[in-house]
Amino acid sequence: VNQKLGFFAACPRGAEEFLTTELKSFGATDILATGGGVSFNGTAQVGWHANLASRIASRVLQRLSSGFYHSTDDLYALAKSTAWELFHDSQATLRVDVSATRSPLQSLQFATLRIKDGICDRYRDIDGQRPSIDTQNPTRRVLAHVTANQCTLYLDWSGDSLFKRGWRRDANDAPLKENLAATLLMVAGLPDQRPQAIMDPFCGSGTLLIEAACMVRGMLPGGKRRFAFEDQLGFAATDWQRFRDKQMHLAQTRAAALKQPRIIGGDITPAALSIAIDNAARAGLPDNAIEFRQSDALHWQSPGESGVMVTNPPYGERLDMKGRKVIAQDERFWPEFGTLLKRQFNGWQAWLLTADLDLPGKIRLKPKRRTPLFNGPIECRAFCFDMYVGTKRVEAKLDNV
Ligand SMILES: C[S@@+](CC[C@H](N)C(=O)[O-])C[C@H]1O[C@@H](n2cnc3c(N)ncnc32)[C@H](O)[C@@H]1O
Repeated sequence: VNQKLGFFAACPRGAEEFLTTELKSFGATDILATGGGVSFNGTAQVGWHANLASRIASRVLQRLSSGFYHSTDDLYALAKSTAWELFHDSQATLRVDVSATRSPLQSLQFATLRIKDGICDRYRDIDGQRPSIDTQNPTRRVLAHVTANQCTLYLDWSGDSLFKRGWRRDANDAPLKENLAATLLMVAGLPDQRPQAIMDPFCGSGTLLIEAACMVRGMLPGGKRRFAFEDQLGFAATDWQRFRDKQMHLAQTRAAALKQPRIIGGDITPAALSIAIDNAARAGLPDNAIEFRQSDALHWQSPGESGVMVTNPPYGERLDMKGRKVIAQDERFWPEFGTLLKRQFNGWQAWLLTADLDLPGKIRLKPKRRTPLFNGPIECRAFCFDMYVGTKRVEAKLDNV
């Protein structure tokens, strides 16, 4: 039970530092961040904990074997020499995925096939049965990562990606992934720093607001879903349930002792708003947890003396109150939004996550910080604007030094 296992947790690129902090708090050791993920060691409980409580990870994998390769025959041999039968019997359905960095292999598809054959042939030698393949709903996923000359085989512990918290039903146009939303909130200092208010004036399906509300209330992201490790042989279901209930209770008790910020937001389209309200309820939040309102972002008046705005503003186009599409770049919209920040959000800090790297110029404000974050392959920035009285003047002076 206390045996240390090797793991890898994948995450959005740019979020590794926050994932590292989370993993440390779960008791992980030997933590090493790479681009797009973090490797670590820990007991099975640490692996459970990461699945249950990480807001940043998109998947947690156990590292099973690793070796050098020259050809796909070596990949086959590595797969065949790995003790898959310790984790699943031949009835478990299988999906194999291969990712590569600087690999000389001609075809990853062929590499995938060879690894799959290695696994299946091992089962055939043991009990005469080859597992069947199911790419849609496999009971187990194997991931292989190949570099220039090395291959590592991993067994997935998560199942559905961890950003799927189990509450999203309808999707609006382009919802943020929940773990990217959580990353932006952590870049903005949550959950340790508790502002008076958290707000998102372009809330869409409500991802940032719901993630923030769950975070400050200590509601664990994996509390409502199941995980692939539950299908492993010898899975200690009772221990897991006890562990999960205890962690959920602990997190909520800790959070309840802290200040609860007001959580406010809105969107211009009624359709997005009704999805957001529905999603918040499905996430298990009480009705009053988030104050939603239908509003043009430009029509907000100061919702309080201080707070943190976290938002993923529309890029390329925006909508007017009648739901007509208006191209944002051609409008006075962004300078007006900048003016709104200065006039109505004095005392606030605003974090804008966008793929539009020119946004600060468009809103005519100078960012205090810019944090690179990737939305899948798309390079984005989290721009931070401090809206304190006098900030501009100080910055102007510094510029002249
Ligand atoms: C990039 S999406 C935000 C997605 C959101 N973060 C989510 O996870 O669902 C931008 C949102 O801004 C809204 N929007 C566009 N123009 C707006 C305006 N003038 N005022 C308020 N909201 C607007 C759109 O309806 C859309 O839902």
